[in-house]
Amino acid sequence: MLGKKISYQVNGNEIQIQFEKGEASLRVLTAEIMNVFLPKETKDHRSKAIEGEKAQSVSFTVKEEGEALCITTEKLIAKVYDDFFVDFYKPDGTLLCADDRTGRVFTEQISERFIEFLKAEGHEVPDASDFHYPVEVVKKMDGDEKFYGLGDKTGFLNKRDYEYENWNSDIPQAHTEGYRALYKSIPFLITLKKTGVYGLFFDNTYRSYINLGKENEGYFYYGADAGNLDYYMIAGEKMTDVVSGYTYLTGRTPLPQLWTLGYHQSRWGYESAEQIRGIAEKYRELQIPCDTIHFDIDYMDGYRVFTWNEKDFGKPGEIIAEIAEKGFKTVCIIDPGVKLDEGYEKYDEGIANDYFAKTPEGEVYVNAVWPGDAVYPDFGKPAVRNWWGENQKYLTDLGVRGTWNDMNEPASFRGELPKDVMFTDEDRPLPHAGMHNIYGHLMSKATYEGLKKADGKRPFVITRACYAGTQKYSTVWTGDNQSLWSHLQMAVPQLCNLGMSGFAFAGTDVGGFGADCTPELLCRWVQVGAFSPLFRNHSSKGSTYQEPWQFDEKTIAINRKFISLRYQLLPYFYDLFYQCEKTGLPVIRPLVLHYENDPETWNLNGEFLVGENLLVAPVVEQGMTKKLVYLPEGTWYDFETKKPYAGKQYYMVEAPIDTCPMFVKEGSIIPTYEPMQYVGEKPLDVLKLMVFPGTGRYEHYQDNGTDFAYQNGEYNLYEFIHEEGCDAEEIEIKMLHEGYTRYKKIQVL
Ligand code: GLC
Repeated sequence: MLGKKISYQVNGNEIQIQFEKGEASLRVLTAEIMNVFLPKETKDHRSKAIEGEKAQSVSFTVKEEGEALCITTEKLIAKVYDDFFVDFYKPDGTLLCADDRTGRVFTEQISERFIEFLKAEGHEVPDASDFHYPVEVVKKMDGDEKFYGLGDKTGFLNKRDYEYENWNSDIPQAHTEGYRALYKSIPFLITLKKTGVYGLFFDNTYRSYINLGKENEGYFYYGADAGNLDYYMIAGEKMTDVVSGYTYLTGRTPLPQLWTLGYHQSRWGYESAEQIRGIAEKYRELQIPCDTIHFDIDYMDGYRVFTWNEKDFGKPGEIIAEIAEKGFKTVCIIDPGVKLDEGYEKYDEGIANDYFAKTPEGEVYVNAVWPGDAVYPDFGKPAVRNWWGENQKYLTDLGVRGTWNDMNEPASFRGELPKDVMFTDEDRPLPHAGMHNIYGHLMSKATYEGLKKADGKRPFVITRACYAGTQKYSTVWTGDNQSLWSHLQMAVPQLCNLGMSGFAFAGTDVGGFGADCTPELLCRWVQVGAFSPLFRNHSSKGSTYQEPWQFDEKTIAINRKFISLRYQLLPYFYDLFYQCEKTGLPVIRPLVLHYENDPETWNLNGEFLVGENLLVAPVVEQGMTKKLVYLPEGTWYDFETKKPYAGKQYYMVEAPIDTCPMFVKEGSIIPTYEPMQYVGEKPLDVLKLMVFPGTGRYEHYQDNGTDFAYQNGEYNLYEFIHEEGCDAEEIEIKMLHEGYTRYKKIQVL
């Protein structure tokens, strides 16, 4: 507790406030974003999520009003009280978010009961403060709060009444609601309630705890084991403003290469060039579109990173070039653990240059991962990131088109790394306790920057572990799920929450990684995968093979249907990524993001929107051939039959195994391409527009799909306008920007 307020000074965007027992600050970044900062560990923020100056020149006033110091912008009011309690109000005076002053009541009660129990058992009695976290923010609840975001957490869309932890965890067991933490730490929360919507981003990399009304219905809290109290209030009129504000702060998913939006095939267990060749041939033979094959750890020599297993995969790069002739791009896995092996170049270089994490006594720290004894690059050192980045060239020189970063929680087979293993935070030592949750982030950043230098293309990185803000550098997948219906069910809320947490480019292992996939499960999963931003079928060694042809003819046909549909919709997905770079809005979205005033959307776990206008309601239960679909306001058209449906109603629709219910909102224009087997198979010079009745306008983006030339104006931006009552085949086209070869033909379907 900081005690009474004594004085304050305004320095640029920052209001420094002196209390009896310390100093804290409130910073106005934009009219809608404010930062609350109590330096407990370092004087400065040292944020890994936020890069560059985000404070804009924004007008605000600072005034003392009674007990409070009021900081007012056009969009948000903060009132700071003694003990650094901070309440936020909307400009009209409505209370948005208030600090809880009563203390964590439940904890006090628990401790009384607990103390009696401990006494009875003859244990030492802890102090009440032992139940609190060194860093703690407790916010009052009105009672009708819904919570969204938090990245990849398990369970359902609305996180109300649950508790979670942020501690990047490699969980090989089936991910159930009981897991409080998976691979990612994204401490960003959106609160929706009657009186408004806001986001809170807790920027702290230590292990942290989020309890959303589970402990007590009167408050929710955030606690961390160490670090600063450093959080951001992100206000907005609508939920979409909050997502835009958060991604303004932590960065937006950059425009990817077009092929990365195609279909990817992977398996841990492709053990030779021959097997890879077989996969490539089969896709082309069956005319199932596919762009990418992922090489899992077996391509390496003894799991040594940046090496090649010549025995099974032939001359380095040969198989990559061979499948490239058929249009396949190669993505290779790289883990952080470097094999402890004197004479192995990467290990020797790392030792010579002091690149690896150390024990507190100064010895190189050794644990074990795939190669056995392994050491951990200290990605917090700029020199290590450079080194790692330069090593990407080993891969790109072989023709590799993207890097898959795995095991970067960091995972370890001989127990978790002790908290005091020493890493570096740029220019200061940082123990594992503070580094853990940003290890994957820093590895992804090194990889992104290295790839960008190596081939000048838009880097394609996939990571398993990450922190808030990693979306600037990498796509993500949700780690080792299993071939379980419950995991297919969870994929929808998980991808929706990842999207609202900044990770627009995310996917699950289609078909499930562990356990054995069934034909029906694969058919239903490919229906979700076809709309997931990252669309990759991946499975584990020891499980049933799950490429589409491993089952029956029907499964092949259904996979072909939905993968082909994905390719048809590529321009629509690409447009969404283009928009995401500008607004931060995700590609797939829960309905609540666009219809937050409609209570039916608050807990909708079984359907989602792709962009704003395409609604997908996949079947995610075994044996089910009907789906209960909620359509929000407006008129919606069945994607296949074009039958109209009035919104704000539930419908029971037919959904046999080859059907995924999809609806398009009135007035929508959806751009499509001709069918193709892979990106680059044919010139993409014809655009076909699906135009739905009603009035609408649509912006379509086109560029070379590979490099950064678009940032110098080499792109086209079209505006398509469709007026109610006009001939369905007639649309108006305007060029909003012209800097790239135009389509030869734009056709209205
Ligand atoms: C981890 C990854 C998985 C990969 C395997 C082998 O379990 O999550 O995707 O296939 O390691 O590299």
